[in-house]
Amino acid sequence: MTRYDVRHYNSIGSTNDEAVRLANEGAPHGTVVHADQQTVGRGRLSRRWQSPPGNLYLSIILRLDLPPERTTEVSFISALAVADAIETMLPKQERTTLKWPNDVLVRDGKISGILLEQTGDALILGIGINVLQPPGGVSYNVSTIVGCGGLGTVDGTRSALLAALANWLDIWQRDGFAAVRSTWLARAHAPGTTLRVQIGDHTIEGRFADLAPDGALLLDTAEGRKRYVAGDTSLSAPGGGEVR
Ligand code: BTN
Repeated sequence: MTRYDVRHYNSIGSTNDEAVRLANEGAPHGTVVHADQQTVGRGRLSRRWQSPPGNLYLSIILRLDLPPERTTEVSFISALAVADAIETMLPKQERTTLKWPNDVLVRDGKISGILLEQTGDALILGIGINVLQPPGGVSYNVSTIVGCGGLGTVDGTRSALLAALANWLDIWQRDGFAAVRSTWLARAHAPGTTLRVQIGDHTIEGRFADLAPDGALLLDTAEGRKRYVAGDTSLSAPGGGEVR
């Protein structure tokens, strides 16, 4: 079971940057950097992550002794942990949906972001969860725990998240990635869902076929089945809008 050492900051540039610094100084597995707000929160693909007070921003140092080609497995473990944590705060009728590679959606809105980075032999798992404050001015649908009728507080969400992550790390270490993969598939967009994959300036559209045993996305496109190991996906919300 992972034991955590939480370091709390009122305000910080980016919890991921601070976690990288601490990891490079030798901070152990389970060190957590939590901040009430970030002034330069970072998202995937060099995007900014708006980080006003009222949401959860934390980064966890993981020392898992994994070969580089298996680090992607941690993305799926993280998404399941985030989804479990959020569901403990939501009313029963509200459920999460997972979107490749590690997005967590509620009511077709992005409620969380996960940024996984490597420094030396440590992985830095950065997680943002919208508890109270929907980020403004973004081009995609967003949700918050409280906006979906949840009774979430930032500290309650942090406790639920750290417990859920320890649980999924245990399952993965005991049963392997196959157990993570099958649960992820059961909670993700259904096979046949139209997905757009963005690779650099390039967007490819296709239908979700499967998650490969190594976590790659298998997409049926006009040019046949394609396999993606990295990228950003979006889908169209039934009620309109872009789900990214
Ligand atoms: C995404 O683009 O979806 C990933 C966003 C990740 C945001 C979190 S907030 C805590 C941690 N610190 C950062 O600077 N980014 C991550």
